Amino acid sequence: MAKISFSIIALGISLLLLETGAQNPKKRLATSKPPKGQCCDEVRSLKVQVANLTSLLAELSQKQKTDMKNVFRQILELDKQDQQLEGRVTEAESKYSEINNRVEIMQLQTLQSATQTSSDAIYDCASLYGKSYRISGEYKLPKDEFLGAPELSVYCDMETNGGGWTLIQRRKIGLTSFSRDWKQYKNGFGSIRGDFWLGNDHIYRLTRQPSTLRIELEDWEGQTRYAEYGFFTVGNELNSYKLLIANYSGNAGDSLRYHNNTNFSTMNRDNDKCVDDCAALRKGGYWYNCCTDSNLNGVFHRYGAHTRSAEGITWYAWHGPNYSLKRVEMKVRPVGFQP
Ligand SMILES: *[C@@H]1O[C@H](CO)[C@@H](O)[C@H](O)[C@H]1NC(C)=O
Ligand SMILES: *[C@@H]1O[C@H](CO)[C@@H](O)[C@H](O)[C@H]1NC(C)=O
Ligand SMILES: *[C@@H]1O[C@H](CO)[C@@H](O)[C@H](O)[C@H]1NC(C)=O
Ligand SMILES: *[C@@H]1O[C@H](CO)[C@@H](O)[C@H](O)[C@H]1NC(C)=O
Ligand SMILES: *[C@@H]1O[C@H](CO)[C@@H](O)[C@H](O)[C@H]1NC(C)=O
Repeated sequence: MAKISFSIIALGISLLLLETGAQNPKKRLATSKPPKGQCCDEVRSLKVQVANLTSLLAELSQKQKTDMKNVFRQILELDKQDQQLEGRVTEAESKYSEINNRVEIMQLQTLQSATQTSSDAIYDCASLYGKSYRISGEYKLPKDEFLGAPELSVYCDMETNGGGWTLIQRRKIGLTSFSRDWKQYKNGFGSIRGDFWLGNDHIYRLTRQPSTLRIELEDWEGQTRYAEYGFFTVGNELNSYKLLIANYSGNAGDSLRYHNNTNFSTMNRDNDKCVDDCAALRKGGYWYNCCTDSNLNGVFHRYGAHTRSAEGITWYAWHGPNYSLKRVEMKVRPVGFQP
C-alpha cells in the first residue's frame, strides 16, 4: 500500500518536473539570449517547415478533391454510356418490330384468305398451328359468334416446347404501367408485340377449353426458368375472374399455388383475402391472396434497382420477394395439344 502511494507521488513529481522541463528551452531562449542569427535561423527554418507542411496539406486536400471530382465525372460518364446503350437497344427493338410487323401483315393476309375457305373454327394459336402457321408473331383471331367476342389480336409462340401457345401477358421493355383499373384489366392493355395484358375477358374465353398455362421467366443475369400448370382456368367477370390451377411442373418453383382459388383484384376492386389492399400495395392487377408469392403484373424495375423493392415483378420460389425479374411471358394452349 505504502509503496504504491509512494510511486504515485514519485510519478506526480516526475510529471511536474517534466512540465517545468518542457518550459526550459523557451526560458533558455528568452533568458540566455543566444546570438541573434542563430535564433532567427531556427525560427525561420521552423516557419519554413510549417509553411511547407501547410502547403503540402493544402496540396493533398486539393488532390483529394480533384480525385473525387474525377471519380464523379467517371460515374456520370458511365451513366451516360448506359443510357445511350439503352437508347440504342430500344431503337433496335422498334426497328425489329417494324420488320416483324411487315411479316405479320403478310401472315394476316394469308390467314384471312384461309378463314374464308375453311370451315374449321379458329379459337387460338393452337388452331392456327393446326393450319400449319409456324411463324411466331401477331395474328388476328376471328370473332367468336357463340361468346359474342370480337375479333382479337394475339401473339402466337409457335416454337417453345412444341408451339401453339397464345400469349396472355408479356413484360420485357418496361415502359407500360401495369398499375391499372378493373376495366383495363378486363379488356386488356399494352402492345401485343411489347408489354401487355391480353384482358381477363379474353383469358376467360381462351380457357373455356381445358388449358395449360406456361410461365417463362428471365432474370437480370440472363438465366431462365419456367413453371407449367397442366390445368388453368379463370372465371368470368361475375365470378371475379377467379383463378384455378393444378398440376405444376417446371424448374421455377410453384409460386402460383398460393394464388389458387382467389379472385382477381385491381387498384379499384379489392377482392383479395387480406386486410391490406394488395393491388394498391403491389401496384398491379393479380389474383392477390394476402398478398403475394408471385406478382407477375408488378412494377418493372431496371437493372440496378431490381433488387430493392417489394412491389416488383416477383416469383418468390426463384428469387425471393425483393427481386424484380427482367422478362416474363404467360401463355396458354389447350390440354392435349399435339405439335
Ligand atoms: C520546403 O520545400 C521546398 C520546396 O518544396 C524545399 O526545397 C525545401 O527543402 C523544404 N524545406 C524544408 C525545411 O522542408
Ligand atoms: C392432373 O394430372 C393428373 C395426372 O395426369 C390427371 O389425372 C388430373 O386430371 C390432372 N388434374 C387436373 C385438375 O387437370
Ligand atoms: C369471389 O368473388 C365472388 C363473386 O364475384 C364472391 O361470391 C366470392 O365470395 C369471392 N371470393 C372471395 C374469396 O372473395
Ligand atoms: C387449386 O384449387 C383447386 C380447387 O380447390 C384444387 O383442386 C387444386 O388442386 C388446387 N391447386 C393447387 C396447385 O393446389
Ligand atoms: C426484402 O426487403 C424488405 C424490406 O426492404 C426486408 O425487410 C426483407 O428482409 C427483404 N427480404 C429478403 C428475403 O431479402
